[in-house]
Amino acid sequence: MEMLRDAQIDPAPLADKRVAILGYGNQGRAQALNLKDSGINVVVGLRGGSGSTVEAAAAGLTTDLIEDAVRSADVVMMLAPDEIHGALYREMEQHLRKGAALGFSHGLSIRFGLVKPRADLDVFMLAPKGPGTALRSLYQQGKGMIGLWAVEHDPTDNARGIALAYGRAVGCARAGLIASSFAEEAEADLFNEQAVVWGGVPELLIAGFDTLVAGGVSPEVAYLECVGELHLIAELIDARGIAGMKEAISNTAELGSLLGGNRIINTDVRRRMAEVLAEVRAGRFADELREEEQSGYPRLEQARSEARETLLTQTFRKLDETP
Ligand SMILES: NC(=O)c1ccc[n+]([C@@H]2O[C@H](COP(=O)([O-])OP(=O)(O)OC[C@H]3O[C@@H](n4cnc5c(N)ncnc54)[C@H](OP(=O)(O)O)[C@@H]3O)[C@@H](O)[C@H]2O)c1
Repeated sequence: MEMLRDAQIDPAPLADKRVAILGYGNQGRAQALNLKDSGINVVVGLRGGSGSTVEAAAAGLTTDLIEDAVRSADVVMMLAPDEIHGALYREMEQHLRKGAALGFSHGLSIRFGLVKPRADLDVFMLAPKGPGTALRSLYQQGKGMIGLWAVEHDPTDNARGIALAYGRAVGCARAGLIASSFAEEAEADLFNEQAVVWGGVPELLIAGFDTLVAGGVSPEVAYLECVGELHLIAELIDARGIAGMKEAISNTAELGSLLGGNRIINTDVRRRMAEVLAEVRAGRFADELREEEQSGYPRLEQARSEARETLLTQTFRKLDETP
């Protein structure tokens, strides 16, 4: 694995380019501001009547309607939600300059065919491995967030240079850029979202909380044990790795984790993880995402409203209000 950092990357491929950032959400805001602070000519492209126009302008960014931003740009970065990339690309394709570069921060749209770029376009990925809020705050502290980069199409022979210079300008190359592919990034990211950090871990916490409460433990104590300690282990793993985390905790906790961890995450869980990966690769999740968007997000809305009413959420609110 080659990890590229600032000193190994030529900023020149982006120096005289205009970059259009489409979307001013979690990633759009962070990337636009980091690019601007790195001296790049940036315009934020927004739909007509967008509430983000005032916010982006107040942050000192140039804004324009999507089609005008695209028309004026050498590099167009797709930072609207993944599930609308297909429709957004179809609307804006006619405005893209010949030989422009089209960038993504997630491999999904290309890997699962939501976007089929015109043959003359360079297509690259710069995927920061974390949320936009952290990408921005790290940049402001003079640090960076590791990013994955990839090139899918390179008709101009410039795509690699643009991808790396982009990764440098948003601050990712301060921490390191790792070469990947749209397929690898998309599959690994969707797998993690479903099976590990964003899907598996919250369900594990909820199941632990429910088990303790059903066993007669008060919701407050169950919450503090099963949910409240999560940030402690996250910080320890981040600072010391998993082996270092185990050495940092008490012998009691370490032996407990040794005896209990494999009983919970057993071979059956690992088999189902492999099933999730196979389903992701077969495109089943990408189909679900498209359907969810086309039907107005009914499952997401229902899950959000149910989660707001659970005993666990009520307990969180109660503890959060405690001075
Ligand atoms: N969330 C993260 O931190 C993160 C991390 C790594 C990679 N990524 C990737 O980065 C990309 C952006 O994700 P995100 O979470 O930053 O997105 P997001 O916050 O949901 O994006 C919101 C922005 O998209 C615009 N938008 C929404 N629907 C639109 C439409 N139909 N037409 C035009 N603009 C529309 C919104 O416009 P208005 O302002 O008008 O509402 C808003 O500015 C995705 O590919 C994602 O996978 C995200």
